Amino acid sequence: MFSIRILSLATTALVALVGVSNTQNITSDTFFYGQSPPVYPSPIGTGTGNWSEAYKKAEAMVAQMTLDEKSNLTFGISSKTNGCSGNIPAIERLGFPGLCLQDAGNGVRATDFVNGYPSGLHVGASWNKDLAYKRALAMGGEFRSKGVNIVLGPVVGPLGRVSQGGRNWEGFSNDPYLSGSLVFETVRGIQENGVITSTKHFIGNEQETNRNPITNVAGQYVESISANIDDKSMHELYLWPFQDAVHAGTGNIMCSYNRLNNSHGCANSKTLNGLLKTELGFNGFVVSDWFAQHSGVSSALAGLDMAMPDSEGFWGSNLTTAIRNGSVPMSRLNDMATRIIASWYQMGQDNGYPTPGIGMPVDVLASHKAVNARNPSSKQVILDAAIEGHVLVKNVNNALPLKSPKLLSLFGYDAKAPDQNDPAAGFGSWIAINGTIISGGGSGANSPAYISAPFDALQEKAYQADTTILWDFINVNATANVDGASDACLVFINAFASEGFDRVGLHDDFSDALVNNIADQCSNTIVVIHNAGVRLVDQFIDHPNVTAVIFAHLPGQDSGRALVSLLYGDFSPSGKLPYSVPMNESAFGALLSPALPAAPYTLFPQDDFTEGIYIDYRAFDAQNITPRYEFGFGLSYTTFGYLNLRILARSGVSRNTYPTGLIREGGAEDLWDVITTVTADVKNTGAVDGAEVAQLYVGIPGGPIRQLRGFSKVHIQAGHTATVSFDLTRRDLSVWDVVVQQWKLQSGKYYIYVGTSSRILHLDGTLTI
Ligand code: NOJ
Repeated sequence: MFSIRILSLATTALVALVGVSNTQNITSDTFFYGQSPPVYPSPIGTGTGNWSEAYKKAEAMVAQMTLDEKSNLTFGISSKTNGCSGNIPAIERLGFPGLCLQDAGNGVRATDFVNGYPSGLHVGASWNKDLAYKRALAMGGEFRSKGVNIVLGPVVGPLGRVSQGGRNWEGFSNDPYLSGSLVFETVRGIQENGVITSTKHFIGNEQETNRNPITNVAGQYVESISANIDDKSMHELYLWPFQDAVHAGTGNIMCSYNRLNNSHGCANSKTLNGLLKTELGFNGFVVSDWFAQHSGVSSALAGLDMAMPDSEGFWGSNLTTAIRNGSVPMSRLNDMATRIIASWYQMGQDNGYPTPGIGMPVDVLASHKAVNARNPSSKQVILDAAIEGHVLVKNVNNALPLKSPKLLSLFGYDAKAPDQNDPAAGFGSWIAINGTIISGGGSGANSPAYISAPFDALQEKAYQADTTILWDFINVNATANVDGASDACLVFINAFASEGFDRVGLHDDFSDALVNNIADQCSNTIVVIHNAGVRLVDQFIDHPNVTAVIFAHLPGQDSGRALVSLLYGDFSPSGKLPYSVPMNESAFGALLSPALPAAPYTLFPQDDFTEGIYIDYRAFDAQNITPRYEFGFGLSYTTFGYLNLRILARSGVSRNTYPTGLIREGGAEDLWDVITTVTADVKNTGAVDGAEVAQLYVGIPGGPIRQLRGFSKVHIQAGHTATVSFDLTRRDLSVWDVVVQQWKLQSGKYYIYVGTSSRILHLDGTLTI
């Protein structure tokens, strides 16, 4: 270990030296490849905007702290009294009770008496800002009741660049605008409970493979992968949703395991001091991912404020020594402590907040007091969010909704609840053959109070609706029992993913064969896929007997109940894909699977993001690749017509090339000025009520041809019309100027498209700036 640390410090020093001469004069994107420019000193938080009171109180408290007390705020300790993922000790004499940090962004993890919410990707598929907010509000209340001060979520990194990425499902979408809009609502909703969000993982944590340093089979130390991201892509793609989270006031940001342009995520002065604390005006504090700290002095100077779950000896007495000998200025430690305490005040945790970790038993298997965090008022949002994340992509001759079926035959390993109510238990590496999945695995998995599996809910429905159901979850081939009088056959498969490893494929032969075998025997085969990421369907989609396909994503504990309400037509599906589904893997090119260590950098693996901002639909559009199902696509039981596009320039708003506003949380405040408002009318032209996600794409001069810049989900009764409205802000219309280091509003013609998916765009017009 000792020599390793020396090595990594030496590398950091080298990188810093290389960068010095160029910092003041960035002339091209190539500057960013392979080196992270030094940005020092770490900005001292001042408490801008509505943080000023919290900062005043924090500065007053920190002024009373001894050196050791300040230092003790900056790294975690293990607790004997609670099972939180991380703990900061109390400073009792000053009335600070300490902090409990707990996973994760989709519900409280690893405890009892909490609910299992739909995962991030499911929320992404709902395209519903209001629902994202309500889910967050409900979920945040549970963290509060359990005495959790800091929720380790939501996730907007990974963004989903690598199709097989193991954690893409924890975030909302691989489109930065969709992800940013939903993280904004999520941060707002959770923090309204007084709980601090830790928006993570900052930044470039796009794959699980080599996310951490390892020792290889030859006994050599292999550094974590370096995500080498150019300045433009950083701003227009990866930083974008973090910017929204900061704009929403996230109190905490978690820095990531990977290296970013060859400097560790938690010791990267460009990303922490530069992007986050200077450019985005972040008032809160930065916590390390667990064991992501790899240096003492340099991580403190680069802007890390808190190390978790401990500081592995880097800080503690070594930090206080560094302060005493001047290697780290006292002002930096004061800033670390102030940012932490200010976030605590900002959320009102000084006022009646539950004791840290009160509802988080050290060992749930040992006898412990029940702390119920479940609120009956959350039931509706859990069900609604589960329903809205289902995406119907094929529906031949109105196979769905089912029409008073007399007999349904059920197949597939994903129909029943797993043998253990533990999302991480017994799952294979890419499908979860042990039962249905309601979330992915790892720290983003949550702890459901129960699981309504599809089979359970269909049994109950069979009772209510006098349907006969038959099932065969054992035989998977031609011997499966398909009753010849079946009105429909439902086949349940899944695509599992987890923290810790990347997926090995985007479809699997076992599940594909299962679908085809049933379809061979049943003329009305409906496929339900619980998918923790992109799942290809071309292996069965054109089978003439596959009449309907639903991407059911990761619905949380009300999975079956939600599905049945859609199958039987109580609600019309309203989800849309938050990613593209291509016809085959090759469409993704090099972004299909994670980068691997390769010569000459086998010990310092490199991943150059050479595709720039061209991922997912941006890439498919640019390369003329026709996907099977495009980004934003999803069917309904009704149909919608679009008319009357109106593009209304706002008067009295500056259209200067660059923003001039004060730096507030999220960046220059005029980035959020509304330059133009676009409206359109959407008519429900079908026979049943339904909700539509109207989508707005903009062709910004210079490309890509289209980028999502607005969406609005509206419920419209059959025959009725609703008006949707999209505000386009300065940021929405700008590109990142790598020379001037500003968002640039170009003069020129902008193309505006409004429609039902990224490729079905009924209305178009132009806007000239
Ligand atoms: C590592 C994961 O990357 C992070 O997301 C999680 O919050 C921490 N472990 C704590 O469990």
